[in-house]
Amino acid sequence: MESPDTVTEAIALLRQAGYSADFVVDEGHLRADGGSRRCPVDEAVVEHLYRFEGPSDPGDEMVVLGLSDPVSGLRGVLASGFGPSADPAVVDSLSGLTSRHLPVASTREFHTGPGRVTPALGYEAARAAMDRAGVGGAQDLGHFREDYTVSELRRSDLAADPVDQFGRWWKEWSADPRYDAAACILATASASGRPTARYVLCRGFGPDGFELFTNLESRKASDLADNPYGSLVFGWLELNRQVRVEGSVELLDEATNDAYWETRPLGSRIGALASAQSHVIADREELEQRVEEIRARLGLAGSNDQDTDDVVVPRPFNWGGYRLIPDRVEFWQGRPDRLHDRFEYRRHDGTWTISRLAP
Ligand SMILES: Cc1cc2nc3c(=O)[nH]c(=O)nc-3n(C[C@H](O)[C@H](O)[C@H](O)COP(=O)(O)O)c2cc1C
Repeated sequence: MESPDTVTEAIALLRQAGYSADFVVDEGHLRADGGSRRCPVDEAVVEHLYRFEGPSDPGDEMVVLGLSDPVSGLRGVLASGFGPSADPAVVDSLSGLTSRHLPVASTREFHTGPGRVTPALGYEAARAAMDRAGVGGAQDLGHFREDYTVSELRRSDLAADPVDQFGRWWKEWSADPRYDAAACILATASASGRPTARYVLCRGFGPDGFELFTNLESRKASDLADNPYGSLVFGWLELNRQVRVEGSVELLDEATNDAYWETRPLGSRIGALASAQSHVIADREELEQRVEEIRARLGLAGSNDQDTDDVVVPRPFNWGGYRLIPDRVEFWQGRPDRLHDRFEYRRHDGTWTISRLAP
C-alpha cells in the first residue's frame, strides 16, 4: 500500500499490518472511519504501548499507543499527522510501516496518559503512568531492548577445549554471589521428538561432561530413557553470555550417585524421598504427609531439626544423576547492534574444531 494521506487509508494500512484499529486519534480527538465521528481522547484507555526507532534518525524515539474506547468498544491508535495536511515526514515513516508491522510517529506528537491527555509524554513516562494505572502491562515487550556491550569474544581468547573455555567463563560468572550460578536449562525430547525444557542445577563439569541430579522416574528421565540426548543452556545474561552444550546423556554410576546423595542436606534428601517428581498428586497435604511418614520412619517425628548429621537416609532407587557428554558447545557473547560473537566447538573423532557462526 502507498503512503496513507487520509485517516481511512491510515486505518486500512494498520489493519494490513495486523493491528485491528477502528480509529486513529489525531490532535486529541477521535475520528471514526471517514473522520465523521469525534470524541475526546479522555474516554479512551491505553492498551498497548509501542516504541520504535525513528525512520530517519535511529536514535530517535518513536511511540505509538494502542487505545480502546470503552463507550463504543472500538480499538484505535494514537497517532498524529494522518490527515490530508499530514506532515510528509510522518507519512514517510508510515510508508515503512508494513515492514515494521506497526505504525510510527514522533514522540513529541503524542499527548496522552491512561485515560487522559497529558502533554508530551516520553516513552518511559508513558510506560510508568500505564504501570501505575495497571493497564497495558504484559502485552508489549518490544521496549525491552538491551544493547550488549559488556565484552567481546575473539578467537584468540578461546581455549582449545570447550570445557576449559567453559571453566574460564564459569569462574567469572560464579564469582558474583548474586546469581544461582549453577542454574541452567536442560532440554530433552521424547521418543516422538517432542521437546521440553526445564531448569536444573549443574552439579559438576569436567573432561567427562556436565553432571546433574534428579528423579529417575521424572519426565526428563522418561525422555532420556527413550532418547538419550540433551542440551543444556547456561544463560549468564548479566555478562551478555550464553553457553549451549549438546550431546548424549548417560546415567552416572551408583558410587557417584551415593557420594552426591550424602552431600545433600537432610531436608533435601527427605524431600527427594517424598516426591514422586513429575507425577500428579492430590494436594500439598499429600506431599507434607509423605514427608511426615518418612520422618517418622527415620525417628525424626515431631523434631524440627532438619540438620541432624547422624541420620541415615538411604538413597532411593529412583534418584540419581546424568552426565551430558558434549559433542557441540557454543559460546555466545552479546555485542552491539546484534552483531554478536558466536563460536561453536564440534567434536569429531575426539578432536574439537572451532568455527565462528554468524549471529
Ligand atoms: C533454578 C532451578 C533449579 C532446579 N534444579 C533442579 C535439579 O537440579 N534437579 C531437578 O530434578 N529439578 C530441578 N529443578 C526443578 C525442575 O525445573 C523441574 O521442575 C523438575 O526437575 C521436573 O522436571 P520434569 O518433569 O521435566 O522431569 C530446578 C528448578 C529451578 C527453577
